[in-house]
Amino acid sequence: MALLLLLVAVLGVVLASSLLLRWNELRYSRRRGLPPGTMGWPLFGETTEFLKQGPSFMKQRRLRYGSLFRTHILGCPTVVCMEPELNRRTLASEGAGFVPGYPQSMLDILGPNNIAAVHGRLHRAMRGAMLALTRPHMIRAALLPKIDAFMRAHLHGWAGRRVDIQEMTKEMALLSALRQIAGISAGPLSDALKAELYTLVLGTFSLPINIPGTNYSKGLQARKKLVAMLRQMIADRRSSGCAQDDMLDALLSGNEGTRAKLSDDQIIDLLITLIYSGYETVSTTSMMAVKYLSDNPKALEQIRKEHLDIRKAKSPEDALDWNDYKSMTFTKAVIYETLRLATVVNGLLRKTTQDVEMNGYVIPKGWRIYVYTREINYDPFLYPEPMVFNPWRWLMGGGGKQHNIKVPQSGSSQRATYPSSRLLNL
Ligand code: HEM
Repeated sequence: MALLLLLVAVLGVVLASSLLLRWNELRYSRRRGLPPGTMGWPLFGETTEFLKQGPSFMKQRRLRYGSLFRTHILGCPTVVCMEPELNRRTLASEGAGFVPGYPQSMLDILGPNNIAAVHGRLHRAMRGAMLALTRPHMIRAALLPKIDAFMRAHLHGWAGRRVDIQEMTKEMALLSALRQIAGISAGPLSDALKAELYTLVLGTFSLPINIPGTNYSKGLQARKKLVAMLRQMIADRRSSGCAQDDMLDALLSGNEGTRAKLSDDQIIDLLITLIYSGYETVSTTSMMAVKYLSDNPKALEQIRKEHLDIRKAKSPEDALDWNDYKSMTFTKAVIYETLRLATVVNGLLRKTTQDVEMNGYVIPKGWRIYVYTREINYDPFLYPEPMVFNPWRWLMGGGGKQHNIKVPQSGSSQRATYPSSRLLNL
């Protein structure tokens, strides 16, 4: 009898689930002109599959529905676009039907003043402040010498040790950012910030359901703690009265061309956005560069030679300067190739501000467009043998003629032909 009840219960759940899924699909398919696709569960959509499967979620759906399809992820009905030309047009039409469309979880956790959440005058003020902090004069005069000093001291600590490169590049990216932003060195404060930042990052890629235990709820808690720490830091900075020559000082004083002085709440959200944006991107890219170089002894040898040649002309204490940086042609090629092959940012999110026509389909107002750019990096027409780490492919002049590039490999050599006009000219 118990077994029968269990069977009935299981059948009931299966039936109710498939009815719910069917009902949700019917709700959307009543709308005319939507691209093909599936919307998953009410409210949750296909978020779990999207987060679990990553790029293969996109690949599978493209095989089934083509390169423009609908889905429901991170709390929003979304159209994924994998067509390069359509993506280019979408990004070029900012303001004309599209605005930045980051998920609610990200907007809530990064704060009401973060650059992705604000429009109009405040957006211009926040962007102006960020650009002022990273304009060429600031990079040459302040950021480059500070990053140089930080990296030397930091890498010195790795010497002679066996290190977990994933952990170490995370630590490096965070400490480097904290140093430039607010003069913070490794210690209890950076540890406390790190612990909250991990939770905050997870929360930004979650469904915005504020129930204790969800990643979203934990992310909001982490934000509260981060805000309290940053507020205290601002109060300490003001009461100390000493100038610190970092981004926080420039923002508090409105000097360095950060224009209109921002309120403390705006500065806090800007700091959180900067730390957040530069953390996973820089740590993952650095980790992958180390991996690719250690898998490619020829590339490692060439990059090492480039660096040692620069150092030969300097005494050991001399910092790298702008001219040294500009002369690192092969290093830049390694960075571009790492960014291409590792693709840490898969795409960009936009929101429609009106019904928008795309390839004959009608995307309703308020939907998200996931401008999915990842696949371009693996297009064999643009990058022959796209899965091969080949920094030499970036070392070409313009001119539109075909170039033969030798890919040095241990033992053997490969030749590939590239239309140079399609490639970035260093
Ligand atoms: C490998 C490194 C990085 C990659 C691949 C990357 C990628 C991107 C992309 C694709 C966008 C455009 C987003 C959009 O328009 O929707 C963006 C925006 C942004 N990034 Fe990065 N980024 C990197 C490093 C950094 C770092 C180190 C920082 C700061 C310290 C940073 C701060 C920002 C900010 C503030 C924006 C928003 C700009 C705006 O909306 O005006 N990023 N990034």
